[in-house]
Amino acid sequence: MRVLAIETSCDDTGAAVLLDGRKILSNIVSSQVSVHQKYGGVVPELASRKHIESIVPIVREALETAGLTLKGIDGIAVTQGPGLIGSLLVGLSFAKSVALAAGLPFVGVNHIEAHLSAIFLEEKPPRFPFVGLVVSGGHTSLYRMDGFGKFARLGQTRDDAAGEAYDKVAKLLGLGYPGGPIIDELSKTGNRGAIRFPRPVLSRHSLDFSFSGVKTAVVNYVKTHPEPAGGYPEDFVKDLVSSFQEAVIDVLVSKTVQAAQQEGVKRIVLAGGVAANQRLRQRIMEESRGRKLNVYLPSPLFCTDNAAMVGVVGHEYLKRGMKSPLSLNAFSSLPL
Ligand code: KG4
Ligand code: ZN
Repeated sequence: MRVLAIETSCDDTGAAVLLDGRKILSNIVSSQVSVHQKYGGVVPELASRKHIESIVPIVREALETAGLTLKGIDGIAVTQGPGLIGSLLVGLSFAKSVALAAGLPFVGVNHIEAHLSAIFLEEKPPRFPFVGLVVSGGHTSLYRMDGFGKFARLGQTRDDAAGEAYDKVAKLLGLGYPGGPIIDELSKTGNRGAIRFPRPVLSRHSLDFSFSGVKTAVVNYVKTHPEPAGGYPEDFVKDLVSSFQEAVIDVLVSKTVQAAQQEGVKRIVLAGGVAANQRLRQRIMEESRGRKLNVYLPSPLFCTDNAAMVGVVGHEYLKRGMKSPLSLNAFSSLPL
């Protein structure tokens, strides 16, 4: 089965063609970073306009790269939510139109389920059940996944998502957007023990997260260290961001390990843009080794938003004969 998948939940326009839900025939992502960079974050109205411009050429490119026309496609998968409503509506309306015109079945996919399923694009995917940490610009949640469509949410952030905290700290320091990859790079040569930022664990058994306190602690630290003429010294910035990153990662790693232990599950999967972070990948491997937990990490390309991961889920549902009606709506919040 060949599935055309479309992803427009935030600021990346993605289209992919997957064979049997695993083999990538094409996976095209058009990033809008240059549009939003000067604002230090995604501007929803600009994002939807840009999706409208990009959707046709990106889908066309995905089909061409796969060496196919719509005649060679068996079904369409599209992100239905959660995400920015204007952005989601572009992808969903487009997918519905193509499905109607080409007489193809289409299915709406939950963006979080797509992130958790990106790991099936790798050569050695995990068996079920596993504990999955979805950590991105919009989400920080822990799930137990027992199969496609079979989830239990174990915890989630009570305020900021981890990626959002990265982006806000980078913006505060004028480092650029998106902040995650920039802080990831700068932290490599910073002293992560320089400043002890809070590690919000909430209560001992809770698998919820909270990152607004760490972010505020960084803001307060910056306020008490006013910028000298000529800007902050490079080492100051590196030490600051690597100390911030270590606080965030300490909590992400300890709660994920705790979730696996509480559930009696031996497999851990990371997903979402922040899962591309090199220090997080290193730390989760280190902490799991001695506890006999197996960690599965998607390639960085499959961590950030892409349509191939939407195709994995779409294939699974289309294969089961599931179809969405043309009346399907997009939702900015869509619980899994
Ligand atoms: O999954 P994603 O592409 O979009 C959402 O669904 O949110 O994640 C984007 C987020 C941004 O906040 C970005 O700063 C963060 O992921 N990110 C990273 C890294 N690469 C992307 N955070 C930390 N380290 C990275 N290497
Ligand atoms: Zn995402």
